[in-house]
Amino acid sequence: MVTLGINIDHVATIRQARRTVEPDPVAAAVLAELGGADGITVHLREDRRHIQDRDVHLLRQTVRSHLNLEMAPTEEMVAIALEIKPDYVTLVPEKREEVTTEGGIDMLANRDRFTEIVSQLQGAAIPVSWFIDADSAQIEAAANTGAKFIELHTGKYADAIDEASQAKELEDLEAGTKIAIAAGLRVNAGHGLTYWNVYPVACIPGMEELNIGHTIVSRAVLVGMERAVREMKLAIKGQL
Ligand code: PXP
Repeated sequence: MVTLGINIDHVATIRQARRTVEPDPVAAAVLAELGGADGITVHLREDRRHIQDRDVHLLRQTVRSHLNLEMAPTEEMVAIALEIKPDYVTLVPEKREEVTTEGGIDMLANRDRFTEIVSQLQGAAIPVSWFIDADSAQIEAAANTGAKFIELHTGKYADAIDEASQAKELEDLEAGTKIAIAAGLRVNAGHGLTYWNVYPVACIPGMEELNIGHTIVSRAVLVGMERAVREMKLAIKGQL
């Protein structure tokens, strides 16, 4: 059964809208775990637009499931990860002007540096996951860095405007998962998944973990975090 990592960045987005202390993503993580979260994910961005360093430090002490630290592959972030020691790190591209992570990282751009970052992190017993598009060249390059995981970008699937293009994107995700597993990688997926589109992705053979944020925090505002997580667990099983 695929597991569910809850991305709580947007709880911090609401707090940062007023630069105050509420709502606290640490409290949200506790409630998400009570609702059945298998993991907690946060993206510490260079501009600190939502999650703050304080949040990551506290979550390391309070998360009882596992903590996935999403971050850009920069020296600053690698140093923070080595200090915090999350259960795994997901490396993502970051552009200052983007609203959210827009595409997968380009694994072909900086291979030597990327391999070095993987050995720094995995040398400290922190498994690394590369957030990439379901493209065979990207997947092979990710495997060549020695990383344990990839996270397939599901944004194109989520944005597909009709059934035919959604089916094509799903096929690409399925094919990418197969290629990755054959290359010795473990496979997660995420971005843009919702209560309504998650089930086919959850059914991909070999898929391990889905990282989902915006749709769950949106529902949590209305029905509470525990219920929003419980309902996503049902959606993943096709029972919502
Ligand atoms: N996975 C990665 C690597 C992401 O960057 C994000 C967005 O921060 C997510 C998953 C979650 O995406 P969403 O908020 O659209 O569910």
